[in-house]
Amino acid sequence: MTQHYSARSRAIEPFHVMALLARANELQAAGHDVIHLEIGEPDFTTAAPIVAAGQAALAAGHTRYTAARGLPALREAIAGFYAQRYGLNIDPQRILITPGGSGALLLASSLLVDPGKHWLLADPGYPCNRHFLRLVEGAAQLVPVGPDTSYQLTAGLVERHWNQDSVGALVASPANPTGTVLDRQQLASLSQAVTARQGHLVVDEIYHGLTYGMDAPSVLEVDDHAFVLNSFSKYFGMTGWRLGWLVAPPEAVADLEKLAQNLYISAPSMAQHAALACFEPQTLEILEQRRQAFARRRDFLLPALRELGFGIAVEPQGAFYLYADISAFGGDAFAFCQHFLETEHVAFTPGLDFGRYQAGHHVRFAYTQDLPRLQQAVERIERGLRSWQG
Ligand SMILES: Cc1ncc(COP(=O)(O)O)c(C=O)c1O
Repeated sequence: MTQHYSARSRAIEPFHVMALLARANELQAAGHDVIHLEIGEPDFTTAAPIVAAGQAALAAGHTRYTAARGLPALREAIAGFYAQRYGLNIDPQRILITPGGSGALLLASSLLVDPGKHWLLADPGYPCNRHFLRLVEGAAQLVPVGPDTSYQLTAGLVERHWNQDSVGALVASPANPTGTVLDRQQLASLSQAVTARQGHLVVDEIYHGLTYGMDAPSVLEVDDHAFVLNSFSKYFGMTGWRLGWLVAPPEAVADLEKLAQNLYISAPSMAQHAALACFEPQTLEILEQRRQAFARRRDFLLPALRELGFGIAVEPQGAFYLYADISAFGGDAFAFCQHFLETEHVAFTPGLDFGRYQAGHHVRFAYTQDLPRLQQAVERIERGLRSWQG
């Protein structure tokens, strides 16, 4: 009876990987040892000081709504983090605490998108972005990107694809699924290209902190008027706590606050209290160790997959993903993923979940497993390639 539901909900595609995940769970329930490389969240549980702060918050009765913008102390702590990490002076008044980066995306799209208006997004990219746009009756204008632009939108691509309905561009750095990072110059020229057209630039910085061999610059270093999404999910390892933030230009804050009040009232209060511990030196030390563990995993998995024939043209500098071209093996990416799940019990994600451009011959590996497990996965993949008949 789905025809009675809204056209906008019917337009949202499910994650294709969910079918694989259901099958992976079946295999696991039947006693098979499945290696999960499809999951986009850190395998580490939340660091102990954050958990302790969350427990203390519950014990102290911090179980009610907070202000819609979030706890003032947390907004100040985040502003302090911008000062310390990026040398930026961000007024805490410009920071809104949201239920995950997803909540920040909901706020930004509700504020910035009118019906029928287009937003430029990189294809491949995080699939929920285009779905959020659809939910607010806007549309994603998917711009095919490849290794030549490190899978990122560029000023040139903005110039080429901007039309009379375009009102903004949304980029992610580091990106999902490719892990590539925009440098300061690239951010500045993107910002110039978008603002010259009276558009808005939204930058998803959710994977900041998880970079290897370089720091990702914030767009706020070059454009104080950009909208920035961030989250406690990935670097801070708090996926299940549902906490993120949005940095907005000062003139947008009152309207965003109004939207927040109506859409979700406030972000979870115990999670906000817990997150105050994120910026303590002992927590940052744990997070640094985890970042180094991700770096070691990338440094193992990237050459190992290339050696097997996977095409990873651009070295990813961040997040915890490798986006690989499987053309050398032939066949379709979904069938390829199914083959490895069925025969070798290794799960990874077909390209179709990230867009359309060349999606049929790309897959994403998430290195959200420890090194011995990744080594095992590579052995299984090597064996599975021998029985793959693409
Ligand atoms: C690029 C990107 N943006 C946003 C999100 C949303 O994450 P959360 O709502 O947990 O902050 C994700 C999650 O995978 C992501 O990969």
